[in-house]
Amino acid sequence: MQISARSAQDLEHMNSQLHELREAVLAISSDLSLPEVLQRIVTAAATLTNAKYAAIGVPDDSGKLLGEFVVHGISEEERKRIAHPPRGLGVLGVIMSERKRMRLRNITDHPRSTGFPMGHPPMGSFLGMPILLKDRCLGSLYITNKIGADEFTSDDEQLIEWLASHAAIAIEHARLYEEVQRLSIVEERQRIGMDLHDGVIQSIYAVGLQLEFIRALIEDGDSKQAHDRLGAAIEALNHTIRDIRSYILDLHPHQFQGDDLEVGVRRLVAEFKANSLIVTDLEIDSDVCQAVSPEARLAIFQITQEALANVAKHSHATRVKLQIFPNGESLKMSVEDNGVGLPLDGGVRRMGHGLNNMAQRARTIGGALEVNSEQGNGTRIDVRVPKV
Ligand SMILES: Nc1ncnc2c1ncn2[C@@H]1O[C@H](COP(=O)(O)OP(=O)(O)OP(=O)(O)O)[C@@H](O)[C@H]1O
Ligand SMILES: [Mg+2]
Repeated sequence: MQISARSAQDLEHMNSQLHELREAVLAISSDLSLPEVLQRIVTAAATLTNAKYAAIGVPDDSGKLLGEFVVHGISEEERKRIAHPPRGLGVLGVIMSERKRMRLRNITDHPRSTGFPMGHPPMGSFLGMPILLKDRCLGSLYITNKIGADEFTSDDEQLIEWLASHAAIAIEHARLYEEVQRLSIVEERQRIGMDLHDGVIQSIYAVGLQLEFIRALIEDGDSKQAHDRLGAAIEALNHTIRDIRSYILDLHPHQFQGDDLEVGVRRLVAEFKANSLIVTDLEIDSDVCQAVSPEARLAIFQITQEALANVAKHSHATRVKLQIFPNGESLKMSVEDNGVGLPLDGGVRRMGHGLNNMAQRARTIGGALEVNSEQGNGTRIDVRVPKV
């Protein structure tokens, strides 16, 4: 666009084109879904150049053929009549693979033209532009059949070049947004897995222990105690069902809602003692329980629950000590048993979901978890969490 050689009319025309370009850029940047962004880009390309048809091709994973093809100007019915979507073997492929723009009076005159599939509308004047971002080709713009003229102009080419540079950013932005959405789904799945493992599964496991105990009572002929404990087991299962229900409703498990940590831990210990018959010493400082955030209280509760479940399942301990106490600017929680210690698998300690979840929960609240264990000499889990 050589301004000095232009008349006032030309300047006015250019001004209106720049206005349209600005509108187009705003439109393509206003959406975050990739299909919408692509559709807005092709519509903008056709409007800016006064073209009957416009399309955008996005390469497939090989980068050589067309993966996605979004069009403007062709109705759904016309689209169905076309034998197959373009594959990027002819002129369209040249623009994508050689990353070269192209302005032709008639696309079929190009030596690499492969003609059109059956049912394709006739196309003549053509403008093609790669969409580049640094050294990557994100796609190409194809614009055909200029209305009211035989071919596209150098001004059209310039406008489409500008549009393509904005389109590249909009496409990349939409892709990154999709990626973030995907990652948050993965994170959410992990969180649900952790919550189910540490909450519901441990509660059901505890009921299993109670039932085993009841079987022993029945074998010993103590039907009175068996009957009482059966009532407790049924109640515990009902609790678990309520937990699952509230979880589905996206509420925190009924058992503990991050409010009073001391009450939650005392209940946990009472259940643990009744189910495992392991002597349990509890030392808990009420003030420090209130000195950490609700998220930290919930995490400490869940870590304690899993640590106690591990003691019941794996340790063969006769005694366990649980402490929650202040330590400088932190809360410390420790669970120490006198059991067999963590087994070593070929010299390496095997971490299951439980230990991994504990460590991850501690990290997410800005704390740290330490596991100390000696074969035959018990296990100690320590968690340190900063006060708020
Ligand atoms: N207090 C403990 N005493 C002895 N061994 C333990 C203790 N805690 C954990 N372990 C051992 O460490 C392993 C890993 O524990 P972790 O909690 O990570 O997994 P898990 O309890 O086996 O399975 P999950 O917790 O996924 O149901 C256990 O299989 C067990 O061998
Ligand atoms: Mg475990």
